[in-house]
Amino acid sequence: MSAPRWLRRDGQPRLEYGADYNPEQWPREVWDDDVRAMREAGVTIVSLAIFSWAKLETAEGTYDFGWLDEAIDLLHANGISVDLATATASPPPWLATRHPEILPVDQHGNTVWPGGRQHWRPTSPIFREHALRLVRTMATRYANHPAVAAWHVSNELGCHNVYDYSDDAAAAFRTWLRARYATIDDLNEAWGAAFWSQWYGSFDEILPPRQAATHPNPTQQLDFKRFSSDALKDYLIAEREILREITPDIPVTTNFMVMGETRGMDYADWASEVDFIANDHYRLPSPQELDELSFSANLTGNLAGGRPWFLMEHSTSAVNWQPINLAKKPGELERDALTHVAHGADAVCFFQWRQSRAGAEKYHSAMVPHAGTDSELFRDVVALGATLRDLAPLAGTLRTPARAAILFDWTSWWAVEQDSHPTERLRYRREALDWYTAFLELGVRADVIPAGSAFDGYDVVVAPVLHVVPGELAARLEAFVTGGGHLVTTYFSGIVDENDHAWLGGYPGALRDLLGIRIEELGPLLDGDTAELDNGLTGTLWTDRIDVTGPDTAVLASYKTGDQAGRPAITRRTAGAGSAAYVSTRLGPAGLVPVLGDLLERAGVTSELPEDLRGRVELAVRGTTRFVINRTDEPVDLTSLGGAGRTLTARGVAVLRA
Ligand code: GLA
Ligand code: GLA
Repeated sequence: MSAPRWLRRDGQPRLEYGADYNPEQWPREVWDDDVRAMREAGVTIVSLAIFSWAKLETAEGTYDFGWLDEAIDLLHANGISVDLATATASPPPWLATRHPEILPVDQHGNTVWPGGRQHWRPTSPIFREHALRLVRTMATRYANHPAVAAWHVSNELGCHNVYDYSDDAAAAFRTWLRARYATIDDLNEAWGAAFWSQWYGSFDEILPPRQAATHPNPTQQLDFKRFSSDALKDYLIAEREILREITPDIPVTTNFMVMGETRGMDYADWASEVDFIANDHYRLPSPQELDELSFSANLTGNLAGGRPWFLMEHSTSAVNWQPINLAKKPGELERDALTHVAHGADAVCFFQWRQSRAGAEKYHSAMVPHAGTDSELFRDVVALGATLRDLAPLAGTLRTPARAAILFDWTSWWAVEQDSHPTERLRYRREALDWYTAFLELGVRADVIPAGSAFDGYDVVVAPVLHVVPGELAARLEAFVTGGGHLVTTYFSGIVDENDHAWLGGYPGALRDLLGIRIEELGPLLDGDTAELDNGLTGTLWTDRIDVTGPDTAVLASYKTGDQAGRPAITRRTAGAGSAAYVSTRLGPAGLVPVLGDLLERAGVTSELPEDLRGRVELAVRGTTRFVINRTDEPVDLTSLGGAGRTLTARGVAVLRA
C-alpha cells in the first residue's frame, strides 16, 4: 500500500464535478456542444473510455486511438481533466468469439453469454492477457497527457460477474485454498468436512459450490465468497501494477459500489489497494432511502479513513434498472450530491454526461437529458456546479468522527444470509440501516465503520447481528468494554467463528460472557408473529430465551407476550465504566429509537442538535463546516441553530461555515 493520494491536478482547492462521458456514442459535432455545456455547468473532470474496448481495439492487436486522442485533447483545451478508464470493463465481440472460454459460468453450469456487459471471468488467464495488454497500451499512450488526472480501473468490478463457477474459477479457488490452508486436512477441519461424507483427499477434488443436491457446505460457500472478492481484488491489483509501473505519478482508483444489497466485494479489504476511494451510489425506493444514501456515504467516508473520496457516479434523476423508475423531486439532485459531500466526498460525478439515444440505458437520466440543455434538469445541474464552486474551500477537509459507531462486517453479512439457518428472513444490511435510522431520528451522529477498524476511540459501538466473531474480534470487543466503552449488539450475534463453526456452551457464543447472558435455543419467529415488550414496543423476526448469568446484568425490558413472556428481551451488563447491551428481537427503526435513546443516555452520548431539529435534519461535520440536511419534505426553521430567520427548504441542505 502507498500513502493515500488525490487527483493529479493543479494545487487549487476544488470539489470536482463531472460524469462518465461516452463521446463514442455521438457524432463528432455533438462533442463541441458537450464541452460548451460542460463549461457552463462547471464540469471539471469526466471519466472516459469506460466501455470503449470495442472502439479502441477493433480487432486483436489493431488499435484506433484517434477518436480518444481527439476527445482528450478537446477536453484538455477546455480545462476539463480526465479520469481515464482502462477500458477493460466489457470485452469486445471479437474477443468473446475467439475465446469463449473467457465467459463466466453460473452456478448451474450455464454460460453467461455476451450481449450485455462485463461477461468475463475474473480468473480467466486469457481474459487477463488481453485486458492487461490493453491496459499497458493505454498507459503507455496517455502517460504524458496532462489532462489525465487519475486512472479508473475497469468499472464497478464485480457488478455482474462476482460469482463465476467455471473451470478457471475452480482452479483459482484451489490455489486460493492452498494458500489459506496449509494442508488438505486443515481445510477438512475448517470446512467441517466430516459432515455428509465430504472429507477431501486432496485439493484437486475441490470445486466451487456449484448447484448441488442440497445445501452445499457452508464454509465452502463462505470461502468461495472470500475467494471471489479476492479474485476481483487480485485483478484490480494486476491492472494497478501496470499503471504504477508506467505512470507512477498518476493515482489509481476504481469505483466501488457501497450501496444497497451489493455485497460481493469486501471493500474494507480492498480500500488500501487504491490511491483514493471512489464510490457509485444510487438510491432505491424505500421509506429509508435517504438514510441509506447517508449510510453508504458514511461507510465510504470511513473506508477512506476519513479522508476525501470521490463520488464517481450517482444519478441526476431516474435510473433505468428498477421495476419502476421515478424521476427525482425538486431539491433531491442537490440534496443527494451534498449528502455525499457532507460525508467527505470531494468530487460529485454522475452517470452520465449526455443521456444515450440508444442502448439499455437510454431511459437513465444524465446531466444533459434527451430534452437537451434547455431543461429544468440541466438548469439544476448548472446550479449544483455553482454550489460546488462555492464550497471549494472545503476540499481536503476530513470528516469529523462521531462519538458513536455502527460496526459493519462483510463476513457477517455473507455468512448470516446463507441457507440452512434458523430463518431466511434476516437481512444483515437492513438491520444495520435500522440502527442508523434510529441515530438519525435521535439527531446523534454515528460513523459506519468496518468491523476490522479501530473502534476504541468511540464511546458507543453498535454491532447489529455481528454473527461471525473470531476470537480476535471477541477480544477487541471485550477490551473496548473493559476500557469503558459501551457495546450494543443483537440477536444472532457472536454465534460462529471465522470458519462458520458454532461457538459452544450456549449462545451468544463468543459474546456470552461479555453480555452476561446465556441462550440455549435460537428463536426465530414466523412471518406475522410478534412479541410484545413491557416497554410498549413490539418485536418481530426473532426472540431469544435469555438467562441472565450474573449480578452485573440488568434487564432493561422483558417480553409480555409470546413464548418468552416474562423473560428478558433487552439486557445490559455493566463492566466497570463500560457496558454490553443485548437486544434480542427485531424492533425496526421506530422501535429502536427509544431503546437506542436510553442506551445513549446511559453512555452519556447526546445530540449535537437543538431539540427541535432532532430527527428532522441530519447533521454531518467536516472540520468547522456543518452540513444540515433536511430529512423531510417540509421547510425547517434553523433559528435554534443560530441561523435566525434562516429556513431550510424542503429536501434542502444548509452548509454552515464557522
Ligand atoms: C453503474 C455503471 C454505469 C451505469 C450505471 C447506471 O453504476 O457503472 O455504467 O450502468 O450503473 O445506473
Ligand atoms: C433427513 C436426513 C438426515 C437429516 C435430516 C434433517 O432425515 O436423513 O440426514 O438431514 O433429514 O432434518
